[in-house]
Amino acid sequence: MITHSLAGDRRDTTVSIRPDRRMIFGGDYNPEQWPESVWPDDVRLMTEAGVTTVTLGVFSWAAIEPADGVFEFGWLDRIMGLLHEAGIGVALATPTAAPPMWLIEQHPEIMTVDESGMPTGRGGRLGWSPSSVVFREHALRMVRALAEHVADHPALVLWHVSNEISNENGHTYDDETAVAFRLWLEARHSTIERLNDAWGTSFWGHTYPDFEHVRPPRSARTHHNPALLLDFERFTSDALLGHYLAEREVLREVTPDVPITTNFMVMRSGGVADYERWAREVDVVSNDHYTMGADPRRHEELSFSAARTRGMAGGGPWLLMEHSTSSVNWQKLNLAKGPDEMLRNSLAHVAHGADGVSFFQWRQSRSGAEQWHSGMVPHAGPESQVFRDVCRLGAVLGRLDRVVGSSVARGDVAIVWDQQSVWALSTSRTPHDDLPFHDLPIAVHAAASRAHLGVDVVPVDDDWSNYPVVVLPNLWLAAEGMTERVDAYVRDGGHLIVTCRSGIVNSDDQVLLGGYPGAYRETLGVRVDEFFPVPGDTVVTAADGGGATWGARHWTERVEATRASVLWRWVDGPRAGEPAVTLNAVGTGEAVHVSTMPDAAGWDALLASLAGRWELRPTVTAPPAVEAVTRRTQDGTDVVFLLNHGDEEARVGLAGHDHVTDAPFKGVVPAGGVAVVATTAEEARA
Ligand code: GLA
Ligand code: GLA
Repeated sequence: MITHSLAGDRRDTTVSIRPDRRMIFGGDYNPEQWPESVWPDDVRLMTEAGVTTVTLGVFSWAAIEPADGVFEFGWLDRIMGLLHEAGIGVALATPTAAPPMWLIEQHPEIMTVDESGMPTGRGGRLGWSPSSVVFREHALRMVRALAEHVADHPALVLWHVSNEISNENGHTYDDETAVAFRLWLEARHSTIERLNDAWGTSFWGHTYPDFEHVRPPRSARTHHNPALLLDFERFTSDALLGHYLAEREVLREVTPDVPITTNFMVMRSGGVADYERWAREVDVVSNDHYTMGADPRRHEELSFSAARTRGMAGGGPWLLMEHSTSSVNWQKLNLAKGPDEMLRNSLAHVAHGADGVSFFQWRQSRSGAEQWHSGMVPHAGPESQVFRDVCRLGAVLGRLDRVVGSSVARGDVAIVWDQQSVWALSTSRTPHDDLPFHDLPIAVHAAASRAHLGVDVVPVDDDWSNYPVVVLPNLWLAAEGMTERVDAYVRDGGHLIVTCRSGIVNSDDQVLLGGYPGAYRETLGVRVDEFFPVPGDTVVTAADGGGATWGARHWTERVEATRASVLWRWVDGPRAGEPAVTLNAVGTGEAVHVSTMPDAAGWDALLASLAGRWELRPTVTAPPAVEAVTRRTQDGTDVVFLLNHGDEEARVGLAGHDHVTDAPFKGVVPAGGVAVVATTAEEARA
């Protein structure tokens, strides 16, 4: 039986993965998909492109252990040798994302079971239950054999545990999981009476006489108890993390000096994992990120993702473990990237703290489920635009080794992220259930970027009390102590922005009574007695009384300003004439309530007026389309990344060396282009 309890043991974030402090540049390399005669060509092309590190072995369990207990490392030795000779480091994956056919054949019970009780068929990847004892034993035996075999290999720079744990084994409703879930619930609630109380099981007469009666939430004909669903999310995240920790234990024992990561998917909507918590268990945070090709504002989502990943890494460096050179093959329409888009994407991640840029995958597959996913070497071979772009990126990254290990300059604005709220909002049936959680935090982050206010994304459990401005964007759930934390922050001079759908329920998903938002209504000086969602694309208009207006969508509320003053009122929509945005002075600080989801112009107007009021200064003088992010190196150099997301060239008054053109910066960033300007303290003053 597997119990899931967590260690909470993270080593210091590794400052530099490669001993020579070079940028990580490369991708997933799957040589087992190709005849060995191709390998020398691969290594030659990697050298040409400036590749420094590849991720090897992600799906190679069947190649390493072709039969139960029979290990085969010859091929791995040969390819690691070739890579090492060329100076290319290896992030070695433990291939547990690819359980071999013989294992599934022998032990079909290791597989996840879906909500209807159907076991997952073979033919995919991951697919195993993190509570399966048999799977765990086979996985750890193989990981140990692999680690012992490569322990002293000079090419090994990083362990990459499994691959996107949770991606294809997110929720499972199998019998071993039922046992593990019950044990987890006992540890959380200690008695069945407390569980019944926390979940409010008197509703529909769901009272449990005993923990033995609780089951994972398989399909029912109605919605399940949302508090049960919320605990099942928490349990699932812990169970999956538990698998990572079990592998980590073996790796630390065998190779104590090799740092360990597992690749996150922080923007996977809904999010099965509480990555802010997982981040405390990895030596270096790494993330996979793919843009939605048809989304015209995909750069905003990318920047938010990168900033959030940086927040998990405590503001320090992290790795972009995967993205794509061009199209993916899993969207409805898989658009190829436009001119310079791959360079812009890559450097945006580096701007936000990535010390490496890697791709899925090195050579585009000829066969298999991902044959139409782009790679660094496309089907056409090196004579291709994609490979030329890869080489250009490699050259630029080669000039950016100086930023390795540096942090991003701290911002004035902290956007607080809370995975518990993501889950609580998705497990409940609320007045508007068609609002992707990410939209609001992304909109705030993008508006702050356009205004050139330094902005960070900070985990709710971290200390954000020193930020001049703190934003709580749809933080539906307020954990114990949050009300006091938030109130003290404002009293001590903080500037708080709370959006709609924040502070509504406690940790057990129970509504905080007496008027919304129960957790913050005293601090905000408002009381809401009913929500008024707005259908479809209907735009409602707010005005400041001085002639300025902006539009908002999706959500309004009947707001009574009990102590707050009204900054903006509705001129139309279901609450015409009533408050839309209020401000309350508390102690030496101010608390703003935004009772809706403003559109981009709305956030621009709100932030412009609040930035003036709160005396926030822009970090650079540049047009709004230019995103500017600064990494500060140990030697006192500011490296300013200027990403022009617009379709006109942009003038920026900065002097220094541009690492993209490898020439002095001329003060102009081309449309869709990037400049990476290193300014020493003296140059910046000049
Ligand atoms: C039906 C049921 C009620 C309640 C309402 C909600 O009428 O009988 O118990 O669920 O739907 O609309
Ligand atoms: C994920 C996986 C990769 C690959 C890519 C395709 O990131 O980790 O193995 O499937 O998606 O986009």
